[in-house]
Amino acid sequence: MIDAVERKIEQFIADLGDKEVASLYRKLPHGKRLRAKLILKIAGSGLSVIKTAAIVEMIHAASLLHDDVIDDAYIRRSQPSLNALYGNKTAIMLGDILYSKGFLELNNISAEVARLVSNAVVQLSLGELKDVSLSKTFNADKDVYLQMIYQKTASLMEASAGAAALLAGKERDAYMTYGRNLGLAFQMIDDILDITMDSETLGKPALHDFEEGKTTLPYIYLYEAMDSTDANRLKALHGKKLTKDEQDWIKQKMYKHKSIEKSVAEAKILVEEAITLMNARGEEALSGIAIAMIERDF
Ligand code: FPP
Ligand code: MG
Repeated sequence: MIDAVERKIEQFIADLGDKEVASLYRKLPHGKRLRAKLILKIAGSGLSVIKTAAIVEMIHAASLLHDDVIDDAYIRRSQPSLNALYGNKTAIMLGDILYSKGFLELNNISAEVARLVSNAVVQLSLGELKDVSLSKTFNADKDVYLQMIYQKTASLMEASAGAAALLAGKERDAYMTYGRNLGLAFQMIDDILDITMDSETLGKPALHDFEEGKTTLPYIYLYEAMDSTDANRLKALHGKKLTKDEQDWIKQKMYKHKSIEKSVAEAKILVEEAITLMNARGEEALSGIAIAMIERDF
């Protein structure tokens, strides 16, 4: 079924009648297509469902193209990012093309689905702006972090699940909560892996987030647990290129204060809530997606 989504995206791109765009799109690695899989699992494989899944994946791909420019990221999914290969201008414009074509196609689904998805893209953009603004100072406020990741990542998963429920005539709210929790947990895990995985496995430099000024959940927990001397040292390292010794110091302090364990536990609570909601509706396949997300090496 996911193949049908790939074909639909290719068809939407072919509609544009532009060889350069088609060739650039072919260079993008596909990723896990998590949002499309979620939509298909909730709503089956009708034409509107396939189209909605394709639209959401095009919007997601656009947001990552822009995000890599914003983050100065030269590696995406273990390959050179499009901005690394062709420069920022091309990456931004391909992003613009993908998301505006997505919006054009959204008009053919339903007004309610269009409202849900386009509102999520507003949230996504607000979240990305917040992420950039927050990284200018050391953010130690967990609620501010949670609100930012809700907007930046969870809003599109929440809307994907909600749109699929609408298309399938299922109860929207429960599916939206499922998508929201999954999105929050997904971003928390992404932030944890930036610390725990070596750069080769991760496909991007490790501890990049902190060097970029991002104080993700493990850093917030670490800061809370440290004495004032260590907390001041941590703050002084924020937003700087770290030496190997400084990286090791941070990792060792995280180990001592169990910052990673606390963060994984927080993501697991959200996933368990999502699983309970879906099990109550006999949606075991959706619980399966949620379980697969947390059964990883941290
Ligand atoms: C990845 O975050 C970024 C997002 C999930 C959202 C990005 C949103 C925008 C750039 C707004 C513009 C939207 C459109 C549709 C053009 P990350 O940097 O934490 O994750 P990463 O490790 O995968 O880079
Ligand atoms: Mg990024």
